[in-house]
Amino acid sequence: MKIILLGYMGSGKSTIGQTLANELNLSFVDLDHAIEKEIGMSIRDFFEASGELKFRRLENDVLKKVILENSSMILSTGGGTPCYGNNLELMKSALKTKVFYLKASIKTLSERLVSEKDMRPLIQAIGEEDLPEFIGKHLFERSNFYLQAHHVIDIDQKSVETIAKEIVELL
Ligand code: S3P
Repeated sequence: MKIILLGYMGSGKSTIGQTLANELNLSFVDLDHAIEKEIGMSIRDFFEASGELKFRRLENDVLKKVILENSSMILSTGGGTPCYGNNLELMKSALKTKVFYLKASIKTLSERLVSEKDMRPLIQAIGEEDLPEFIGKHLFERSNFYLQAHHVIDIDQKSVETIAKEIVELL
């Protein structure tokens, strides 16, 4: 079985993924980490050196590889992963795979991301006061992709354990 988590930056994909992996005794793959391992540098540095287009190509390559190499796993993706190329189709059509969208409000995401902005190339340059508007527009563009997940889980004001439990109940 494969469980794939989608969602905007700051929606908790990695934390929930790790928790589910422990609970279900499955291996955990964080796509961002797999990419960083492949290139031997941080995504932030890669964005700066090579730009977003090259990153999206790399992300697609590593996603294909990860899906092929793991018959069973919990995979947490990057916030943009389902929105580029054939990534969404690759994920949804993988064998015995369920795709979950961790849906968070603009408010939750803004509050979480304000302190982590500098680590994230796409929002690094956005001022704190402009962050909610940026996230709102960005989510509007991306929601169409996220909402194609097999299941949508609202995560606002829920604990990691509650969210993991909701996902397990849907398996
Ligand atoms: C991105 C999200 C990041 C990372 C990259 C691009 C995006 O992952 O893949 O910086 O396009 O939203 P997280 O969602 O894990 O922060």
